[in-house]
Amino acid sequence: MQQTATATDLTPPPETEVDYPSEQLLASATDTRGVIAYANQEFCNVAHMSRDYLIGAPHKVVRHPEMPRGIFHLMWERLHAGLPVCTYVKNSTGDGRFYWVFATITPTRDGFLSVRIKPRSDFFALTREIYTAMLAEEARGLPPDKSAEWFLDRLAEQGHSSFSAFSDAALTAEYSLREDIDRSADSELLRIAQLAEMLNESDKLVQQIINIFQQVRGEPINLRILSGRLEGAGVAIGTISKNYETMSADMYQMIERLRCDDTGLLVRMRGALVHAHSAAQIADLMDLTARQSAAKHDAVSRNQDGREILHAQAEKLSEISRAAVAEVAALGKLIPDVCRQLRRRINGLDLVKLLCRVESGRMSEVDSGLVGIIHRLEEAHHQTDRHLAALSATAFKIDATSKAL
Ligand SMILES: Cc1cc2nc3c(=O)[nH]c(=O)nc-3n(C[C@H](O)[C@H](O)[C@H](O)COP(=O)(O)O)c2cc1C
Repeated sequence: MQQTATATDLTPPPETEVDYPSEQLLASATDTRGVIAYANQEFCNVAHMSRDYLIGAPHKVVRHPEMPRGIFHLMWERLHAGLPVCTYVKNSTGDGRFYWVFATITPTRDGFLSVRIKPRSDFFALTREIYTAMLAEEARGLPPDKSAEWFLDRLAEQGHSSFSAFSDAALTAEYSLREDIDRSADSELLRIAQLAEMLNESDKLVQQIINIFQQVRGEPINLRILSGRLEGAGVAIGTISKNYETMSADMYQMIERLRCDDTGLLVRMRGALVHAHSAAQIADLMDLTARQSAAKHDAVSRNQDGREILHAQAEKLSEISRAAVAEVAALGKLIPDVCRQLRRRINGLDLVKLLCRVESGRMSEVDSGLVGIIHRLEEAHHQTDRHLAALSATAFKIDATSKAL
């Protein structure tokens, strides 16, 4: 007897996800066009595809239809610009299942290398949500370049100023969840973390100085009010107030410049350090992949080639990381000079304060309020001087720590 198909029979069974141990790192390398030149055994196993099938195939053979086109648009845009890409990718397996990875893709001498880890951080859940909405936008006709922009807007809403900022944060989160990383005392990443602490300390000091300047901002106005009250006798105080205002505004600008927008010294140092951090983390993952392969497959196996690619790329990224740390050090060297200039200006402000004191002496009979102002300025100068000395000392520590790398 013939059976009629029901609606339930026609619905394809839900795809199943391939689970794989989080210690497994999946690697593949391509030429500049994305044609696979190398795949490690772990990648072949999880992808459920033979190495013979993968080598020579375009990397899109593992593409899953639920990966937004906008992500690949961003990926290639960055790779063509010589930049690394770290992002979550859903892939298809040879037997119709799927698996998720957090991929770190970097340009090599003759193409690109991808080392993938199992995603576990909170960034993964967030990304999947965004990808789902992004796919819906693409289904409504949004082209890949616009879809990429749409993705960047969603990241910005989550507080990530760029794709790089998001990738770096996700990489750090995924990396820190791994149990198989060597976190020994002399590791490069530990020093980078120490440098990051020192930069935080510098940021705090700069903020404290800015707060002091904001607190005494009103004092020249107080001086002017006073000079008005004293009529003829207050002319000198009026002039002193103007001088103080100009000089402190100049100092305020100098200190703000340390951390403002893209050109601020501390901002540039932070950018270089994030770069160093990401490169060192990716280098570690590559080393780990090579060691994993060495432990599982003997030296004469075909995997030997892969280990060479991984080692060479890990070394290249470590060099990139060291160069970025050297940039942090070079920029940090400029800080004591800025501090010296600022301390010299404080001496100038002290002179103005001294003039105030002279005026206050001359008008001792008048309740001029000058004493209070002088006291507040004295305290502000003293505090600023102390913070600037600490900022200089931190800059010297940054230099010494970078040199140790
Ligand atoms: C080193 C490297 C690794 C890649 N890994 C993947 C991957 O795991 N999954 C994937 O779908 N695309 C990957 N791609 C991107 C593919 O080449 C391709 O752009 C993508 O699958 C989209 O294909 P389509 O534009 O033809 O739709 C990789 C590219 C490179 C250079």
